Amino acid sequence: MAIKTCVFDAYGTLFDVGAAARIAAGEDGREALAAKAGELAEFWRQKQLQYTWLRAVSGNHTDFWTVTQDGLDWALEKTGLGGDLELRERLLALYWELRAYKEVPMMLAQLKAAGLQTAILSNGAPDMLDGAVGSAGIEMFLDAVLSVEDVGVFKPDGRVYQMVLDRFACAKDEVLFVSSNGWDAAAASGFGFQTVWVNRAGEPMDRLFAEPQHVLSDLTEIPQLAGS
Ligand code: LAC
Repeated sequence: MAIKTCVFDAYGTLFDVGAAARIAAGEDGREALAAKAGELAEFWRQKQLQYTWLRAVSGNHTDFWTVTQDGLDWALEKTGLGGDLELRERLLALYWELRAYKEVPMMLAQLKAAGLQTAILSNGAPDMLDGAVGSAGIEMFLDAVLSVEDVGVFKPDGRVYQMVLDRFACAKDEVLFVSSNGWDAAAASGFGFQTVWVNRAGEPMDRLFAEPQHVLSDLTEIPQLAGS
């Protein structure tokens, strides 16, 4: 089926989640962070995601801002940076204004020019997503910003992907779902969407119950793939 709606994961896909630790590490007086910024960013992201899965399977939902803080606290303690409360506040502030990857505005503009519907579908809480979309200046290219808070469970629960069908009048296979998280793209394939895994880091394919149909290294070719 021809694609009618392009739906994007937010964190790691449109917005560079590594930027918070990288920017903070470049600031004056942050030598201790600079030595461990890569490690901290990796632990932060891994724990943030693990906490979403664990909360989803155990039925203990909370909002993404809480798991983002919990993941950061674990990562700061793990890397020996746990006592620096000013650093914690700075990293959290930077998370609200993550920059978009450089190809994002042009890619979204091309999709809109071709008459396709566009949306974000994210674990992010609505106010976090508003902050990131606003600071990236991409709100004019998005028809909807869908947050899991409307269904009260994190990805990859099927109720999250169903939100796209409830919002847009389209069939599952008219949706192109794009995520840099291999597990998210795989789960969306299993749900019935056409999917792209944006594998920026060249990671191995996740061994799961479904696989993404397409693998790209960035978002540049999405308009072409969507047939626009
Ligand atoms: C999101 C996370 C999974 O935006 O990146 O939903």
